[in-house]
Amino acid sequence: MALNGKTAVVTGAAMGIGKAITEILLKNGAKVALLDVNKAAGESLMEVLRKQYGPDQMLFLLCNVESDEQFKAAFQKTLETFGGIDILCNNAGILNETTWENMVSINLMGAIRGTYLGLEHMSKLSGGRGGVILNTASMAGKSSAKKAEPLPMSSDGAKGNVFLAPKAAALFPVTTVKTFTLKQLEVLHQPPDQ
Ligand SMILES: NC(=O)c1ccc[n+]([C@@H]2O[C@H](COP(=O)([O-])OP(=O)(O)OC[C@H]3O[C@@H](n4cnc5c(N)ncnc54)[C@H](O)[C@@H]3O)[C@@H](O)[C@H]2O)c1
Repeated sequence: MALNGKTAVVTGAAMGIGKAITEILLKNGAKVALLDVNKAAGESLMEVLRKQYGPDQMLFLLCNVESDEQFKAAFQKTLETFGGIDILCNNAGILNETTWENMVSINLMGAIRGTYLGLEHMSKLSGGRGGVILNTASMAGKSSAKKAEPLPMSSDGAKGNVFLAPKAAALFPVTTVKTFTLKQLEVLHQPPDQ
């Protein structure tokens, strides 16, 4: 997918991989809605990005991916601001096995919630113009599926291998749901054949 002129929603965009994804998107001419729970980090990143890419190319939205209400409001605001959504990056995540309920709630359920919202907005079957959904995954999700540990389970499940992609593909065949690992992030610029 050519990124120039496209609009992307990136969760967990204030730091780390989400920030890197955001910068790649902006560099390639996309507009980006940065969603994150960390207001301070999000706003200070915005200051830097505005100077580099111009004030109208991005917006920061305070959004916890655990909240349906906040997630929906963020999509709505993105639509109102940029006129459409073409790319969703389900990237928000935490790594803390001691608070495994939070990890599953954010890493897995946040990505499922985001995917259904993305499909609702982008699927041609529901009046959208099609699009791409990317999930940031861990190699742990690919290699340790036999272990009943929260990280592999939340990574594998959240990244669509087990549940999300087949189900979403069956429901919304015109929208792409893809699973990528960290090593495959370059596909953002040049996705492989489906
Ligand atoms: N860094 C790695 O080595 C690694 C390995 C495997 C998987 N991952 C996955 O990659 C993704 C990004 O990881 P990272 O290393 O960049 O982490 P990070 O901690 O640097 O960044 C995560 C971002 O997500 C945000 N976030 C956390 N909870 C949120 C929530 N409920 N709602 C919205 N935003 C939230 C944080 O504020 C932060 O900005 C995560 O899904 C993580 O599970 C990372």
